[in-house]
Order: sequence, then structure tokens, then C-alpha cells
Amino acid sequence: MNNLKLNRKKFLKTTTLAGLGVFALGIEAKNASNTSIYKNDLMPVNGKFELIPLSYSYSALEPFIDAQTMEIHHGKHHQAYVNKLNEALILMPSLQNKSLEDLLLNVSSLPENIRSTVKNHGGGHWNHSFFWKSLKIGTKMGDKFSNLAAKSFGSIEQFKANFEKASMGIFGSGWAWIVEQDGQLKIFTSANQDNPIMDAGKDPNRIPKVLLGIDVWEHAYYLKHKNKRADYVSNFWNVVNWDEIEILLK
Ligand SMILES: [Fe+2]
Repeated sequence: MNNLKLNRKKFLKTTTLAGLGVFALGIEAKNASNTSIYKNDLMPVNGKFELIPLSYSYSALEPFIDAQTMEIHHGKHHQAYVNKLNEALILMPSLQNKSLEDLLLNVSSLPENIRSTVKNHGGGHWNHSFFWKSLKIGTKMGDKFSNLAAKSFGSIEQFKANFEKASMGIFGSGWAWIVEQDGQLKIFTSANQDNPIMDAGKDPNRIPKVLLGIDVWEHAYYLKHKNKRADYVSNFWNVVNWDEIEILLK
């Protein structure tokens, strides 16, 4: 078994235990850029990215996110992003050993014939891989995050209100994000499958640390909430994995 497979096995095992915590060791130490701050960086296996199994069941987020939505979202939508990303990278073998983070940090520098596909489908793979690990019922906001939120927004309530407003303000499909940058929490929104790390490699000292993202594509909520995005957004606080955010803030 080669190193890629060994490290992937390690990743799959450890994600169930510590979420974003362990994959920092191994291959990406050789391959990822020096700007890497993401411990959940995604590496291809034998030149291909793979859909990572969830560390919980599709029904684990009921009643806030229903099992059917999770099954389709992970098994169909996310899988499609992975497939399309791999199809694009076949055209560019020299990129097939790079981490997804490396590709996205400098996405505008990629060859034009694959740039938009990597942006859309590579972004989709990164965003959803991050999203799944951000979800869990029953955790509580930790001290590090709550202190930062109070410092950055005035209060926890104001932070939540601002995040919900940003999520509701996205026209069409996209994401709202909470990132840490320069010692502050900031709210980002992005269209389609864009995210805060895209092209952030241009300024390695100011790469935002993504802490949380909410997928506001209709596929994330339509089966349960129909057109009522506000219901999905307000319910989202029940499934945020605050423990993971504290790990990211270490
Ligand atoms: Fe999605």
C-alpha cells in the first residue's frame, strides 16, 4: 500500500474521532503549500479525489436536517462535484498530486481550460467536505468562539443575527461563512461554490481561517423547508458542531 492510501485510511479513521484534527501529518506536509492552515486538507488518491464517508448516519441531524436531504446531498450532489473535478484533472496530470486546498488558494492561476471546473466542482468538494464536519447535534458554543464573537460583533446575539441576515441575503445559490482573520471574526458570503480561501494564496499572511459555512443552495433544504430558507437558517444553530470550531481556533 502506498503512502497516499495509508494517509487516506488514517484520515477516514481520524475524522470520526476528531473531525478536522489529525490529517495534518503525512503527505500534505510534502505536497501542500507553505500557506496551509487547514488540517482537513483534501488529497487525491492515485490522482483522484474521493467522496469521504460521513462520520454519522444520514438521520443523525433529524429533525433539523432530514435524512433524505442528507442522503441526496452527500451521495448525489457531493459525489457529482467529486466526479466532475476528477474528470477535469485528467486533462492536467501535473495537477493530480496537488491538494485541493493548493488548487483553490491559487485557482485563478490554473490553466484556463480547467479553471472554472476546478472552481465550481473543486469548490463544491471542499465546501461540502468542510460542511459535513461542521454538523452535529448537542454541542455548545465554546469560550474561544464566544469571546471572539462578542469582540467582533458586540454580542453573540448580534453575531447570529448578522449571520442569518447574510445567509438570507444571498441571491440564488451560495454559502455564508464565518472566518477568523486578523484576530477578528468576519462574515463572508459567496456565490455558487466559491469560498473564502479561493485565491487567498496571493497574500499568504492573511489567508482567512474558515470556521463555519452554511450551504444555502436549495438542495440543502428544499425537501424539508420548501422555499422557506429562513426556517432552514434559523434551525441551523441546532446542528452547528461548536466543538469543531474550538478545535479550529486552537
Ligand atoms: Fe450543497
